Formats: sequence, C-alpha cells, structure tokens
Amino acid sequence: MDKPKIAACFPKQVELEAGKKYAYCTCGISENQPFCDGKHKGTSFVPMVFEATETETAYYCQCKHTSSAPKCDGTHKTLDSPAESAS
Ligand code: FES
Repeated sequence: MDKPKIAACFPKQVELEAGKKYAYCTCGISENQPFCDGKHKGTSFVPMVFEATETETAYYCQCKHTSSAPKCDGTHKTLDSPAESAS
C-alpha cells in the first residue's frame, strides 16, 4: 500500500478540545475516521499526532489527499472515485 485509501470524498466535522491530543489517520483504513484506530500497522503510514491549541469545530479530510492535513482543503472535489486509490 503506497497510496492512502480514500475513506470518503467529503470532510468530517470534528469537535476539538484545547490541550487534548489527537491522532489523525493518514492511511485511510481506520474505521474511526478521521482519527486513527491502529489499522495502519503493517503499512508505511503513521498517524499525525498533535495537540489541539484551541477548542473549535473543524472539518477534517477523509479523502487523504489534502495539502493542509488534517484539514480539508477542497481537494476531494477533484477526485474521481474512492476506488481510484484503493491499492
Ligand atoms: S475531504 Fe480530503 S480534501 Fe476535502
């Protein structure tokens, strides 16, 4: 698996809490999108771990092609279908 799986072609609304740590899924396999559930093990992907700096509502990328990870940047609108990167 050299490309991330497209988990969905739309962002997911998340509620972040200041000071709390999160692990954003980069492989697309997690069943807890947009966050990591450990399923990347055995792939070359690792989650993006970060601490929220403020309490906010955000829209996180699930297509895994954003240039502003973990936030959606609209790139999902340019993707053809979820099957495109299912390798
Ligand atoms: S869901 Fe990936 S760029 Fe929007």
